[in-house]
Amino acid sequence: MRVLFVCLGNICRSPTAEGIARHQLQEAGLGRRVEVASAGTGDWHVGKPPDRRAQQAAKARGYDLSLLRGQQVSADDFHEYDLILAMDHANLADLKRLQPADAKAELDLFLRRYGAAVEQVPDPYYGGADGFDHVLDLVEFGCRGLVNEVKGRP
Ligand code: 4NP
Repeated sequence: MRVLFVCLGNICRSPTAEGIARHQLQEAGLGRRVEVASAGTGDWHVGKPPDRRAQQAAKARGYDLSLLRGQQVSADDFHEYDLILAMDHANLADLKRLQPADAKAELDLFLRRYGAAVEQVPDPYYGGADGFDHVLDLVEFGCRGLVNEVKGRP
């Protein structure tokens, strides 16, 4: 199974989700069954590592995001992945516009799919450090939902 997390810039929320999902899946012994990646709807940060603040906040909880590099989502990704998870409503709307008619991938809103108290992971880019901790809280919750979903699949 292949899962793609998508946000706007691919330097804050979606690389955080990629790192946490990989970590949690490995801990659950599912690291070989699920491949995770991330991308942005925008192209400004293609080739760049995650935002320094996102890296620091993640590192404080034991997640290393330093090797990840920004990439932009493409229509082809709808054939390459099984599940594409958007971080907020704007990302989901942008992805729906990009989605080919014969897409293989299922497209969904990440936190809504896993029953979180809020539907969106808020963009922390223009805020303070606490925004990055909030992203980590929400993404850790959502990724536990993904792990449980994978466990329930044949
Ligand atoms: P992300 O955050 O979508 O969580 O990666 C952002 C990063 C960069 C920008 C916007 C959001 N930006 O406008 O450059």
